[in-house]
Amino acid sequence: MKQQNKPFEIILFGPPASGKGTQAKLLADTLSIPHISTGALLRAVKSDNSNPLSKEVSDLMDNGKLVSDEMVSKIVETRLKNDDCQFGYILDGYPRTEDQVKYLDTISGIGYVFLVDVKDEVVIDRISGRRMCKNGHTWHIKYSPTEKEGICDSCGEALYIRDDDNKEKVKERLRIYHQNHDPVLNYYQNQNKLIRIDGNQHIEGVFQDMVKYLVDDLRSKLNTK
Ligand code: AP5
Repeated sequence: MKQQNKPFEIILFGPPASGKGTQAKLLADTLSIPHISTGALLRAVKSDNSNPLSKEVSDLMDNGKLVSDEMVSKIVETRLKNDDCQFGYILDGYPRTEDQVKYLDTISGIGYVFLVDVKDEVVIDRISGRRMCKNGHTWHIKYSPTEKEGICDSCGEALYIRDDDNKEKVKERLRIYHQNHDPVLNYYQNQNKLIRIDGNQHIEGVFQDMVKYLVDDLRSKLNTK
């Protein structure tokens, strides 16, 4: 296992549509470190028709299934080598399985694992109102609406509904999440790295809880030096 040697090597873990991407963006902007979303990286593979993996990735993602551990781990490993990761990064959507946890341990020194804990009924409500643009900006028709309906406030692109954001596929995504989450959480719990955050609150409340945890932790580390 690699030791933590960067200040902010952070994982955001949680069910689909728990708000990982929303919080990862806020934290990444605040800490000036990259937000690495495996969902976004895989959506780029999916939409690149010249990529030989595009069809395979598309078939899996559109049906709410996981892409292979090997493929996604290689994509993450390559991304973590970028210079912008020198002070840390926020991983959103990785690791999700025990094998991914083990692989990540060989290439990173994770310091914090936030579980964005959200009830299944909240997941369904959030997914049914989610809207995205092609640049990955995310909105919600009730909780985070754009000024102009159907148009992204950040870049002016048209908004769309993700292919995997319908009731049936969400059920499958939740099933896979519940099937895999115990070993991942137990692993980080045993290392005292797991921090449970109440993700059922509004966006600002979730963010404040995470920032407070990080600030308190850094203060206590400085005091013990
Ligand atoms: P991925 O894109 O990672 O999907 P996910 O984990 O299902 O998570 P989401 O992106 O759906 O949600 P989120 O938690 O980021 O919530 P968001 O901030 O958008 O993965 C997609 C697919 O890729 C997988 O199914 C799989 O096929 C593949 N894949 C990815 N990683 C993989 C891996 N490691 N291994 C194998 N396969 C992998 O928020 C949701 C909505 O709620 C938004 O509209 C937002 O505005 C709103 N919202 C957010 N927070 C709040 C709040 N506190 N209150 C009210 N509304 C809120």
